[in-house]
Formats: sequence, C-alpha cells, structure tokens
Amino acid sequence: MKGVVFSEFIEMVEERFSPAIADRMIELAHVPSGGAYTAVGTYSHEEMLALVGTLSTLTGVPVPELVRAYGHHLFQRFTALYPSFFEGVTSAFEFLARIENHVHLEVRKLYPDAELPRFDTPQRDERHMVMLYESRRPFATLALGLIEGCLQHWGEQADVTMTDLSEPGITRVRFDITRRA
Ligand code: HEM
Repeated sequence: MKGVVFSEFIEMVEERFSPAIADRMIELAHVPSGGAYTAVGTYSHEEMLALVGTLSTLTGVPVPELVRAYGHHLFQRFTALYPSFFEGVTSAFEFLARIENHVHLEVRKLYPDAELPRFDTPQRDERHMVMLYESRRPFATLALGLIEGCLQHWGEQADVTMTDLSEPGITRVRFDITRRA
C-alpha cells in the first residue's frame, strides 16, 4: 500500500484519539517500517491490518468501525490532495462510476506499484447504483467508508448495503447504494 494511505491513517488517529495513542499504536504493532511512512514509499498492507488491530485493542473500538471512519477521513483528504479528479463531476454516483476507469487508472499512472481493487458498476440509475468490489486484500470496509465519504461530500442521503460474495483468497463485495427519496 502506498505511504499516503498510512500517513493519512496516522493523522486521523492523532486527531480522533491523540498523538500519544498514535505513538503507542506504532510501538505495539511492531511494524517493519517502524511507522516512518513517506508518501511515495510502498509498504505491505499487512502493516495497515496490524496498526488497525492494535488501535482497536488500545481503544476498544471494533476494527470495522475504525476502518470505516478512516474511509470518511481519507475521502475528505482526497478532495484536497487530488482536486483534478473532482473537476466537472456533479454527483456522488457520477464520481463512484468513474473510480475504476478514471480515478484509479490515473492513480496507477502516478504510482505504478499501487495495489488497487477492481470495481464494476453494472447498474446505475437516478436512485440506485450497484458497485462490485474485488481485491486480493480485505479492504471492503474501507470502500464502504470511502463511498459514504463520497456521498457526504455531495451532501447526498443514501443507504448503503454490503453483500459478501468472497471466496478463499479473494474479497468480493456487492454494494447497493440507494438514494433516499
Ligand atoms: C479521489 C479519489 C480517490 C483516490 C485519489 C484514490 C486513490 C487510492 C490510492 C492511492 C490507493 C492505495 C493504493 C495502494 O496502496 O497501493 C487506493 C486504494 C483503494 N481505493 Fe481508492 N482512491 C479514490 C477513491 C476511492 C473510492 C471512492 C473508493 C470506494 C468506492 C476507493 C476504494 C479503494 C480501496 C478499497 C482501496 C484499498 C486497496 C484494496 O482494497 O485492494 N477509492 N485508492
């Protein structure tokens, strides 16, 4: 995973909990990098799982809740870090439909070693949209947080349900996103 994903995570921990908790998390997780992340560096996604698991132990907040909250934080940060991806986009559904063939495609050009999930958006109308997530890494809850962060960014009210279609070694999740009338 790219360093930006880690540095933004540590920033969220410092803000939401405290800098002392962030330091303690890094120390107790015994991560190979020692917690010194640079935006262009690449680190094992196992490090992220170790950090989140340790944070959950330290704070009593369940892992999925932490990862989902991180998705909200990360989406907000993306709006500041990558403003060009938002130009001309007028709704959350429109943005979400552009992740696979535009946003992540550009991310891959910037960082050829990025480990990105695959998204399909087989259905989309005004009210309802389906997103299929597929990855060798278990970050569907991060996708949920990012989707919710995206809806919040455009001030849209919607319900998001997740259906787990995973198989051994591959995480597959169907997201149904339904706008409230
Ligand atoms: C401006 C918007 C976005 C940018 C710049 C962006 C960029 C990135 C980057 C840099 C990574 C890390 C790749 C790596 O660690 O090697 C990543 C991973 C990921 N992105 Fe995005 N992303 C954006 C929006 C979204 C949205 C809206 C979703 C959800 C629908 C999403 C879902 C994910 C997930 C789940 C991962 C973790 C890797 C995995 O699951 O295999 N991203 N993205």
